[in-house]
Amino acid sequence: MTDTAASVHRTSNSHVQVLEVLEVIVETPSAVSIVLDVPDRLVARFRYLPGQFLTVQVPRGDGFVARCYSLSSSPHLDDQLIITVKRIEGGYASNWLCDNVKPGDRLTVLSPSGKFVPRSLHQDILLLGAGSGATPLLAIAKSALIGGSGAVYFYYANATADDTIFASELDDIMVEFPDRFTVEFNYDDRDGRPTGQDLASRLRPYRKFDAYLCGPEGFMEVARAGMTLAGMDSTHLHTEIYQSLAGDPFADIVIPEFEADADSATATVEVGGSTVEITWPREARLLDVLLSKGIDAPYSCREGACSACACTVRSGDVRMLKNDTLVDADLAAGLTLACQAVPVSDEVDIVFDQ
Ligand SMILES: Cc1cc2nc3c(=O)[nH]c(=O)nc-3n(C[C@H](O)[C@H](O)[C@H](O)COP(=O)(O)OP(=O)(O)OC[C@H]3O[C@@H](n4cnc5c(N)ncnc54)[C@H](O)[C@@H]3O)c2cc1C
Ligand code: FES
Repeated sequence: MTDTAASVHRTSNSHVQVLEVLEVIVETPSAVSIVLDVPDRLVARFRYLPGQFLTVQVPRGDGFVARCYSLSSSPHLDDQLIITVKRIEGGYASNWLCDNVKPGDRLTVLSPSGKFVPRSLHQDILLLGAGSGATPLLAIAKSALIGGSGAVYFYYANATADDTIFASELDDIMVEFPDRFTVEFNYDDRDGRPTGQDLASRLRPYRKFDAYLCGPEGFMEVARAGMTLAGMDSTHLHTEIYQSLAGDPFADIVIPEFEADADSATATVEVGGSTVEITWPREARLLDVLLSKGIDAPYSCREGACSACACTVRSGDVRMLKNDTLVDADLAAGLTLACQAVPVSDEVDIVFDQ
């Protein structure tokens, strides 16, 4: 439907779906895993890669809030989708999900997205996590061990052994893959809080591995320092930043109608295996332009917070109106957020390869 009065094009958000809860697994006193059923008609829509996340609608008053939760399930192993939620003190959605969700409930979600995905399952992989940051790392570990051929080293920090989500599953995986998988648990009450120096000595043997880091900001800082001290090249480092969304990614997509004679750049965009040439108005965000042309580019939050829409600028310049998720190493690798990118140069070449 075209709303000419408002000069916008409005379309329903095809990523919004409802899934039934099959099971709720109590992982620790403060974390649950929620197992979701994917009916046959939605199997294609919910195909995912290890490390990706779902965006979940959590009821609040007359409305809801939206939160992202990484999939702890592996597409190489698990039949159902599983998200794992850890309570945040004073947090709304994490406590609501832990307290209220039960089998038979229906959760409204956006289909899987995210770029925190191994480039190859066959390379050696270093996983660094703390608390609920282990969720996407478990998925990556399972997929790399089952679908790949490299070694996987997992450093996992928690306050205590009782707080450690997936502890017995990780022990079982180590028994199953003794030559390829090593997990090292750090418990603050037993080993002290990890420091950069401590991590550097542990990580040195793995400094050539491709590294995936996820956890609370304090842990991520220490881990980054440890990796630098260990001599690791920052281009090997991939991070997932957890944060709460402020907007409504479930809303209809409202795309401004761009004036045909507006000052524009031209862009070549490779997305979903096809290459398109587009006129890109200077004030328009790349994702809006692509969606307005019916091109199904990846996205979730549309507010620069989740990196689901990350893409690589192969040539030309763009600038982001907002970026709460890409880190320096991502920017150095040429990544940008399609939902926030506007053109700077007259010609831009972009690929969705994340
Ligand atoms: C890509 C991605 C993947 C994620 N994956 C996972 C996952 O697998 N598992 C997981 O558990 N989480 C995950 N998260 C985090 C998750 O989306 C939520 O951010 C988290 O559950 C907290 O949400 P909340 O509503 O409980 O907290 P919020 O209500 O959003 O609060 C967040 C923080 O702000 C503080 N706060 C809230 N209100 C105030 C206030 N008024 N004044 C001061 N401080 C305040 C809270 O105490 C809390 O520390 C992920 C996030 C992203 C972006
Ligand atoms: S869609 Fe979330 S950052 Fe662009």
